[in-house]
Amino acid sequence: MPILRSAFIALSRNRSLRSFCEHTSIGNKLSSRFVAGMDLEDALRVAASLNEQGIHVTLDSLGESVSSAEEAERAADIYHALLDAIAERKLDANISVKLTQMGLLLDPQLAEAIATNLAEHAKYVDNFVRIDMEDSPLTQVTMDIVRRVNARPDLRGAIGIVIQAYLYRSQIDIDRLIADGIRVRLCKGAYKEPPEVAFAHKVDVDANYVKLSKTLLSSPIYHGLATHDEKMIGAAKAFAARRNIAPSQFEFQMLYGVRRDLQRKLVAEGYNVRVYIPFGREWYPYFMRRLAERPANVLFLAKNLLRK
Ligand code: FDA
Repeated sequence: MPILRSAFIALSRNRSLRSFCEHTSIGNKLSSRFVAGMDLEDALRVAASLNEQGIHVTLDSLGESVSSAEEAERAADIYHALLDAIAERKLDANISVKLTQMGLLLDPQLAEAIATNLAEHAKYVDNFVRIDMEDSPLTQVTMDIVRRVNARPDLRGAIGIVIQAYLYRSQIDIDRLIADGIRVRLCKGAYKEPPEVAFAHKVDVDANYVKLSKTLLSSPIYHGLATHDEKMIGAAKAFAARRNIAPSQFEFQMLYGVRRDLQRKLVAEGYNVRVYIPFGREWYPYFMRRLAERPANVLFLAKNLLRK
């Protein structure tokens, strides 16, 4: 399985395959397994329908590593439009943003300025910006930007971050973030990382996930536990029950199209559930990372394609 995982992660960076997939109708049909649609309206429609089922959402306008400042500004415009649409339609939704899409690799100051503008807008409409976490060379700069934005007294609480349990450094990062009052989404981590920085074995990642989720649950801040792993979810529920931490004090988060049964079950049990809804034409790298997590999805997709 780890070989397949690496293969899909390598494919996620293949430019020609990406271009082919994103520009063919068969590719776009495939993507609908994990992507809400190509346009903002598609995402808002899915958001409204999940809200009706008692599920909170976070919206991700797909795209990574832009190649010009204009492209970064255009990507940010979509998020500003989303914040306005969420407020107008009174949706229970926030936004998830990748700093590389905001120009981080071109100019960190540009990405920080865009993240600051988004946090200002979010504060104005009583909303929240989650900064997704990308691969490990970007962990420190992402931490620094989020902490600086949050340090502005008028923006406190308007921005949050993602921490990956596979990184050795994550306990220290989480302690810092909690001291700053920053909301964390804990996930296992979706990129290919070297053993110098990350646990290589699932059992170690899982053990760290449980440890870090206990740290988060014990803090007075509202955090998100992002996983589809019933063992991780079970451990968090048991810890919360033992410590009298009410279900209203944290949320579980899952990806659009993954374990819908579990999403509904948790809502019925009284837990907060937030679904991450990606949309847009640049779906390929996101999609390939989902296949990397569960290569069996390829069989599932192939069967569906043949059926239609
Ligand atoms: P794990 O991979 O161990 O899977 C446990 C079980 O869940 C599997 O056996 C299977 O049943 C189910 N499952 C998991 N993935 C599936 C899939 N793709 N299709 C079908 N079933 C699947 N990562 C990152 O590096 N930076 C980020 O910012 C984010 N953001 C983020 C937000 C949200 C809301 C979620 C849920 C996840 C992320 N991730 C992420 C991805 C995360 O790091 C991780 O790769 C996936 O969530 C898969 O890990 P699990 O915790 O689900 O466990």
